[in-house]
Amino acid sequence: MITGEKIMDFDVIKIREDFPILKTKANGKPLVYFDNGATSQKPLEVINAIEKYYNNENANVHRGVYYLSQLATDLFDGSRNKIANFIGAQESETVLFTSGTTESINLVAQTWGRKNLSEGDEVLISAMEHHSNIVPWQMICEENEATVKVIPLNDDGSLNMEVLEERLNSKTKMIAVSHISNTLGVVNPVEKIIELAHTVGAKVLIDGAQAVPHIPVDVQKIDCDFYAFSGHKMFAPTGIGVLYGKRELLEEMPPYKGGGDMIDRVSFEKTTYAELPFKFEAGTPNISGVIGMGAAIDYINRFDWKDIFEYEDILLNYITEELLHIDGLRIYGTTDKKIPVISFLVDDIHPYDIGTLLDQMGIAVRTGHHCTQPLMDHFCIPGTIRVSLSFYNTKEEIDVFIHALKKVLEILR
Ligand SMILES: Cc1ncc(COP(=O)(O)O)c(C=O)c1O
Repeated sequence: MITGEKIMDFDVIKIREDFPILKTKANGKPLVYFDNGATSQKPLEVINAIEKYYNNENANVHRGVYYLSQLATDLFDGSRNKIANFIGAQESETVLFTSGTTESINLVAQTWGRKNLSEGDEVLISAMEHHSNIVPWQMICEENEATVKVIPLNDDGSLNMEVLEERLNSKTKMIAVSHISNTLGVVNPVEKIIELAHTVGAKVLIDGAQAVPHIPVDVQKIDCDFYAFSGHKMFAPTGIGVLYGKRELLEEMPPYKGGGDMIDRVSFEKTTYAELPFKFEAGTPNISGVIGMGAAIDYINRFDWKDIFEYEDILLNYITEELLHIDGLRIYGTTDKKIPVISFLVDDIHPYDIGTLLDQMGIAVRTGHHCTQPLMDHFCIPGTIRVSLSFYNTKEEIDVFIHALKKVLEILR
């Protein structure tokens, strides 16, 4: 049985009580959920907020003059304010709701990119990007005859900042880079990247999908032009995400989708568009998702980021040390600045074989390319086994995992 351990003032046993799924079994064994990079589990506070909305508060937003619609609208708008505060955005109108990081990046590529990229222009991305921060740029660059250029990595998985500086020039119009790599756990020096980009007038989009559940984010402090993230990786439901953008950029951008809610006045001769944020939010939004995301932020705000960071760092150091005791095991992404995401391979054993056998023991890890095929090409590997931890994981779970991994290797070797 997993009992966990009280480390510092961070009471993980108590925290685990907030997540009902952590008490369930997988293949008859206590669930050890180590795939938080793919999606996090949801606390009761979030589950209850969604249930309460459907039981007591369900109505469409921004449309009705009646009590229930105004109640739903207040909750919806309240969540936008919470999110703006959470990421340090000065104005809640600069926080747009999308279906997730993927849609947020596509929105920027298809609106800002369509308007601002032309023949000969360059978009810089990094070799560690998730496909959702590669393909949208390839699509728009192909259409507008611009070019995608890649910032390579150092052996430890960090960005090669020297090459970034070399590749940055007056043709660079956008740098799109992840705050934290979903495969390596490496934290990128986004402030430095943004500062450099702005010296040549380039804009910067930060893919924050893996950052928001692990580190405090302040979009004004880092001075990014766009910041994209998903709710479901930060304890909120699936199908809801955010795009933050600087007001002047969002105002200049054409709308993304046409429909209800995003208009000011429609006639067959001419349509004018609504103010921010509605210009980018056509149709009935994911109301329960937005409310669930507000509840997730309330939940995170109960903690001190310092405690989360320190606890997760203890887990990261512990699991890294334990893994490195295993013969033939190689970790990809070995910089100092990491969150507890560990990608590894053992000898030439296929990651799927290890993942499938771990699953038999109740342990959920991710295997494969993690939507970062170019990163796999960089390391000349087909995929990895990825363990991605959250602050509700425990050292004891790590012990269970290491013990299981050793057993699996005995079977496969
Ligand atoms: C770094 C990063 N970017 C983008 C995404 C895409 O997120 P979503 O599928 O929620 O749109 C992910 C998901 O794994 C990710 O880890």
